[in-house]
This record gives sequence, structure tokens and C-alpha cells, in this order.
Amino acid sequence: MTTSMITEWLRAQPTLAGSAPPFDLSALPDHPDELFVTWIRQAAAAGVAEPHAATLATVDVDGMPDARTLILKDISPDGWAVAGPRSSAKGAQLAAHPVAALNFWWQPVVRAVRVRGVVREASPEDSAADLAARSSSARQTVAAGDWVLWRIVPERVEFWQGAPDRRHTRVIYELTDASWTRSQQ
Ligand SMILES: Cc1cc2nc3c(=O)[nH]c(=O)nc-3n(C[C@H](O)[C@H](O)[C@H](O)COP(=O)(O)O)c2cc1C
Repeated sequence: MTTSMITEWLRAQPTLAGSAPPFDLSALPDHPDELFVTWIRQAAAAGVAEPHAATLATVDVDGMPDARTLILKDISPDGWAVAGPRSSAKGAQLAAHPVAALNFWWQPVVRAVRVRGVVREASPEDSAADLAARSSSARQTVAAGDWVLWRIVPERVEFWQGAPDRRHTRVIYELTDASWTRSQQ
């Protein structure tokens, strides 16, 4: 396949072909975590097989961005948790720049969620508990003490829902002076 053929092929691919559930903009929760839990459950109910898989973006020591797929492990007042080896590229990047963004895309419901914030390492106990919760085969691939649970403390969370007429909805939560403000675009 030549480059011009792939261009045509890409242009021919459908986009925003899913179907969004009802989204009542007059009944939005005050806290983004609450809306996220509603949305991820609706994504699962609509058939998204692994709705907790997300793209984690980080920045390396030279300021070069990087991204990979990870599993969301938890959401709590302490942050949105992901986990992996400290010895990995993301481990080095988070040590150098403890900031990250996480992006979810749930095609069947035409929804995406985007979060960014500073990253705090969980306690050794919480990291060990996360590792202990993995399957024994998954645990065997990790050196002792290398597994880290990181918590992204959200500063901005965007909820995006696509519409067939392209009048998409964006609800943005931003943390200002320790309280959440909400806007729509
Ligand atoms: C669906 C899916 C889930 C994944 N979950 C994790 C995870 O929770 N933690 C992890 O360290 N890597 C996970 N990976 C592997 C990462 O995408 C990545 O390849 C690996 O963490 C190395 O990334 P790094 O070199 O940027 O550190 C997952 C990959 C996929 C496709």
C-alpha cells in the first residue's frame, strides 16, 4: 500500500460512529470523580471491554513527551491511581517530572475523559497492596520493591461527548483555590 493509498484509507475510516447515552447538563455533579464513575460504568454497560485502560502521558528529563497504555487502579480523594515498575521509562520520567495526563476514549459511547495533575507516589504499603492484588503470574515479572502506585492529583478534568451533528459537548472541571469550578464549551 502506497502512502497516498493509506491517506485515502484513513480518510475513509468512520469517526464518532458510536452512540452516546443521555447526558443531562443540568444535573452535573460538583466533583469530577463522581461524573467519571458514572461515565466509566456507562462505558462498561455499553460494551467497552476494558474501560479502565487509559493512555498515560509523561515528560522525560529533556522535556520530550511520552505516552503508553495503563490500567486505572483506583480513584479516591488522594488521586487517580496507576501502577508500574519504578525501573520503567515512566518511572524515571515521573521521578524527574512528577506530573502526568491520563486519557480515556470509549468509542461505543463517543466519550473521552482527560485528566491532568501532579503525581504523588503512594505509600510503600499501598504500592505493595496493589502488587499483591495482581495475579501470581503478573507478580512474578516484577522485582521486589520495584512496583509503584502513583496517584495523579487532578487539577483539570475534561469530559467530552461527541455528537453526530458535530456539536460536541465539553464539560471542564478545574481546581481553583481548593474547590472545583465547572465550565462548558
Ligand atoms: C491494555 C494495557 C494495559 C496495560 N497496563 C499496564 C499497567 O497497568 N502498568 C504498566 O506498567 N504497564 C501496563 N501496560 C504496558 C504499558 O503500555 C507499557 O508498554 C509499559 O508500561 C512500558 O512503558 P514505559 O516504557 O513507558 O514505562 C499495559 C498495556 C496495555 C496494552
